[in-house]
Amino acid sequence: MRDPNPQTIYLKDYTVPEYLIHSVALNFTLDDENTLVSSRLTLSRNPASQSHDTSLTLSGENLKLIRVNLDDGDLSKAQYLQTQDSLIIHDVPQQQRFVLTIDNTINPKANTALEGLYLSNGMLCTQCEAEGFRKITYFLDRPDVMTLFTTTLVGDKDRYPVLLSNGNKVAEGELPDNRHWVTWEDPFNKPCYLFALVAGQLECIADRFTTQSGRDIDLQIFVEKHDIDKCDHAMQSLKNAMSWDEQVYDREYDLDLYMIVAVGHFNMGAMENKGLNVFNTKFVLARPDTATDSDYEHIEGVIGHEYFHNWTGNRITCRDWFQLSLKEGFTVFRDQEFTGDRTSKAVKRIEDVNMLRTRQFAEDAGPLAHPIRPDAYIEINNFYTLTVYEKGAEVVRMIHTLLGAEGFRKGSDLYFERHDGQAVTCDDFVSAMEDANGVDLSQFRRWYSQAGTPVLSVRQHYDSSAQTLTLTIGQSCPPTPGQPVKEPLHIPVTVGLLNKDGSVAPCKLQGGDQVCDEVILQLTQSEQAFTFEGLNEQPIVSILRGFSAPVKLTIERSLDELAFLLSYDSDTFNRWEAGQQLAGQIITGLIADLQNGRDMAVNPIMINAFKQVLEQPWDDLSYFSLLLSLPSETYLAEQMQIVDVEAIHAAREFVTLTLAEQLQSQFQALYQGNHRDESGKFDAGAIGRRRIKNTCLSYLSKLENSHIHELSQQQFNTAKNMTDQMAALAVIVNNPHPAKQQCLDSFYHQWRDEALVIDKWFALQASGSMPDTFATVQALMRHPAFDLKNPNRVRSLIGAFSQSNPLHFHAADGQGYRFLADQIIALNTLNPQIASRMVGALTSWRRYDEGRQALMKAQLERIMTTEAISKDVYEVASKSLA
Ligand code: TRP
Ligand code: ZN
Repeated sequence: MRDPNPQTIYLKDYTVPEYLIHSVALNFTLDDENTLVSSRLTLSRNPASQSHDTSLTLSGENLKLIRVNLDDGDLSKAQYLQTQDSLIIHDVPQQQRFVLTIDNTINPKANTALEGLYLSNGMLCTQCEAEGFRKITYFLDRPDVMTLFTTTLVGDKDRYPVLLSNGNKVAEGELPDNRHWVTWEDPFNKPCYLFALVAGQLECIADRFTTQSGRDIDLQIFVEKHDIDKCDHAMQSLKNAMSWDEQVYDREYDLDLYMIVAVGHFNMGAMENKGLNVFNTKFVLARPDTATDSDYEHIEGVIGHEYFHNWTGNRITCRDWFQLSLKEGFTVFRDQEFTGDRTSKAVKRIEDVNMLRTRQFAEDAGPLAHPIRPDAYIEINNFYTLTVYEKGAEVVRMIHTLLGAEGFRKGSDLYFERHDGQAVTCDDFVSAMEDANGVDLSQFRRWYSQAGTPVLSVRQHYDSSAQTLTLTIGQSCPPTPGQPVKEPLHIPVTVGLLNKDGSVAPCKLQGGDQVCDEVILQLTQSEQAFTFEGLNEQPIVSILRGFSAPVKLTIERSLDELAFLLSYDSDTFNRWEAGQQLAGQIITGLIADLQNGRDMAVNPIMINAFKQVLEQPWDDLSYFSLLLSLPSETYLAEQMQIVDVEAIHAAREFVTLTLAEQLQSQFQALYQGNHRDESGKFDAGAIGRRRIKNTCLSYLSKLENSHIHELSQQQFNTAKNMTDQMAALAVIVNNPHPAKQQCLDSFYHQWRDEALVIDKWFALQASGSMPDTFATVQALMRHPAFDLKNPNRVRSLIGAFSQSNPLHFHAADGQGYRFLADQIIALNTLNPQIASRMVGALTSWRRYDEGRQALMKAQLERIMTTEAISKDVYEVASKSLA
């Protein structure tokens, strides 16, 4: 913080650590405002280091140093130097091991950045990834320094009855003055970013899991007393994750105890600390009346994600932070597959692609574009991005597609065998995949170093006399900052062919001998032709099935062809995608009509296509709901040269209303047919029925008649589960409903003691479309329940408004931009990580008209003048303006 010209760190400058730490014994004397940390490090020079420097530099920030002791002798002030962010010991032994003992104090209560040791609702907890450990004590705070941790916690018995850290509890005892202590030992080497401690008045639920080899593992979830009735789903999710990793990857848990702690103040979703995960309450707590179906799903997904890190992140970690996608990309891929297996594969894939295409594609096309393995950063916290996580997962998925499930498993087996206990690189991961399968992925590696979303253009030529179809696929990638010229990538393109009657046409590539239902084309050149033979009629091409690569696809399609694919494509992703393309083309046409002062009318092809979907029987009702969902305003904005937020909103609303009018009876019948009370049931059937019913409700609400108003209010009043209550409230808030304020007030009073539900209440209003939304947002900022120090609250009000409300955030007078900049400036000192995340909404300024561009830019420039600007905010704001 407060460095006016912060330093850039480069991947190319990586060198091995000069010293190794063999073990560390930490002793914490806990106090909310003055915790004493005593650290005893056993070190030696790293024989692999080329450096001849005999000094030792440890990282440390905001620490009050008390004592430094080397091999049992206290050091004088002349023997070390303390700087803003380090402690330099001038001379340390070069030939043998030495022991350094450092005492310092820290103030958890003053820590609003939520990095290091901090207080959350009276609970002491830590967050060390990426570089938070240096805010606890002086250390070699880098992931390639792995060591054995022993941690002793000492504290008042009433204030801190529960004392937790990584590993196994090995000793405990009582002390005078109503104090007690516990010692924890972690038998696995780990980098300090995986260290954790938690202390406070916590309650716990306990369970057990028996591993495939018959070991019994204790499972514990710790929460505040008030939340003890909302832990069961998280516990079940943990057990599901443990058995999934055994079945799919043959990975077993390795400690005797697995603990999860839920905290209300957390910068991200959750953290995979060895044996002691710390979670945002949002991803633990659930009860049918407080959490929606999608909350239930996300909890299971995040619990899985953190659990899977035990192998992909903890046993094998990253050499340096440029390799972050090594653990995050792979672990996201693993959690996506887990959720797909537990719920609906088709729905999960569509949801992941939706997020990738709306948010990651925007990042990849903007001023902060970076490869999944970045090569430079100012603040590593800024690189926990959609690109590193979600595109990183897509890159792992492409390897899976290229090698097949079995080949991929051979590769992951080799990776675990080769690198267990090590800190490695993305290259090491790809090499394991290559070596286990005897393939060459050298061109594929460009995905790790090249930023930007590739564009594939497809041309088709059918030769009726030769009975062949030739697909000519071109690839290109627009320049990104620092990468003006792009090389062609190795891209798997999954293709299937359909006959005119909707049946599967056989795929036989020229020169090949296999006939299949679909093929994976390997695109490696900037333009390449693929010829299919034996086709006695021109087939309809279904391309990029399953979204086999994170690319933009351009292929000329008529509305009729899209309607055909929506009816017949056997690939669930492409079937949905055809509907999205169809709706997208229609809405885009209406936007042009609006911009040119023409009247709007929805092409009957679209209404008929929806009618057909509505009149078919569906097993997977969640998938059915997705087929009926129009592309989001954010996705539509992505497709436009210059984003016209008002026209997008108006055109999309017009299509929604038209569909509601034309298909009213179908929507009504579906609503009635699926409306029953199944609260507390979370099987695919009950979830699907709620989802399709609420999709219908949202269409019907556009009709704005008193019957519909009653219907939504009735659902709101009688709902016994949060999915139905929230869905009803959403349509009440986003349409001119007479009981709007009354419903909002009663919801608040019903849920005032449930922080996560109140977050929903804030977010719903902040993302509303009614004309008074901005005034509401300003009023909510002054609401007694709003708190700038709580990231969940900030995300649900400021985040939701700026990132999920394009219509009002981008108001032409710039009030939304000014508001956001005010909040960022206030957050800069309180919590730089959250402040910098909020800058995100301003980074895409080049996509708007001149007036908005100037207004957005002015606010970015204003943010740049923030006094004591943090590295986090500085990096995002300055790169956005560059
Ligand atoms: N490793 C965590 C995960 O993806 C991410 C994380 C949690 C994090 N908290 C953080 C990253 C704070 C940076 C800062 O599971
Ligand atoms: Zn992760």
